[in-house]
Amino acid sequence: MGTEILSVAHYVPSNVLTNFDFEKIVETSDEWITERTGIKERRIAEPEVATSDLAKEAGLRAIKKAGLKSEDIDAIIVATATPDTYVVSTACHVQYKIGAKNAFAFDLWAACPGFIYGLKVAKGLIKSSGVKNVLLVGAETLTRFLDWEDRATCVLFGDGAGAVIVSNSDKKDKIIDVFLGADGSLKDLLIMPAGGTLTPFSPEVYEKRECFIKMKGREVFKNAVLRMQEAVDIILERNNIKPERIDYFVPHQANIRIIEALRERLRMPKEKVYVNIDRYGNTSAASIPIALSEMEEKGVLKKGNLVLLAAFGAGFTWGSALIEW
Ligand code: UT7
Repeated sequence: MGTEILSVAHYVPSNVLTNFDFEKIVETSDEWITERTGIKERRIAEPEVATSDLAKEAGLRAIKKAGLKSEDIDAIIVATATPDTYVVSTACHVQYKIGAKNAFAFDLWAACPGFIYGLKVAKGLIKSSGVKNVLLVGAETLTRFLDWEDRATCVLFGDGAGAVIVSNSDKKDKIIDVFLGADGSLKDLLIMPAGGTLTPFSPEVYEKRECFIKMKGREVFKNAVLRMQEAVDIILERNNIKPERIDYFVPHQANIRIIEALRERLRMPKEKVYVNIDRYGNTSAASIPIALSEMEEKGVLKKGNLVLLAAFGAGFTWGSALIEW
């Protein structure tokens, strides 16, 4: 039995925050942010909007595009690091909101590569347990967990959601391969230290700003380049595919300089590498499905295209995937 992506869709909040807006919030400049990251603007969810609301919109669009109904969904996986609630998964919130009453539902916490981790899990569910249609959503409301006094992190992230329907098929496997990696020994380089069982929320925690995302940017940058390169090399080698055969490379959108380093390594022309970091910033687990959805909407992605994905994030976690579109 094979697996394939039946449809892709995305949803981003309409509220745009530009680099120029940030100049009024922290000591920064459009020039610094653009040069160091490639970001020009990002989307910010309205206060009453939760991660599951973004996931719901993207999910319903993906279900409709696939020609399915909510009742046809057997499993919902929400890849997110910014859940609606800690007890009750975001996936259960989504299941209720879209009326997918026949689906089991759970969250997958793997930070920025969460969507790639989700592809591996969705493929495994279909192959091993008779599941037919999986709604896999990458959704984040990261701006809720940012320290708006820390210019080194608050300018980087944005909110949004992207969703795919992964289904069984009687043809060859179109989710050709997924490679995953993790290294918890480097967890402190990118972490929200408080808010879990280790250090529950308290006024002291807030005072120390530990309930917000903290990042040692330079170290994360180095690891991101190394691990994403490694993930790309491994998946190409073990599938005996030369980089020239890839039609599109869709990297996680964290920093344009990371994307450029990978592009040069793969010796890919610019038109084969999808970039939208300028408009959305880093949307973590949502970044790759949002990119795929935009490519599909623009008619860039065509049936039969060979697509390479790669991502890196907190944990550290990383991964790559090869898909035939
Ligand atoms: O999705 C998960 C994976 N995440 C990533 O892959 C992110 C990886 N890291 C990065 O993208 C980059 O390291 C950053 C964009 C976060 C930072 O860029 P950098 O070139 O590594 O800068 P830096 O952290 O070394 O800081 C350079 C200078 C510092 O000033 P001094 O110490 O040289 O005086 C910072 O204080 O830039 C300063 N700085 C800023 N200046 C203006 C840091 N943030 C800002 C800012 N505006 N927003």
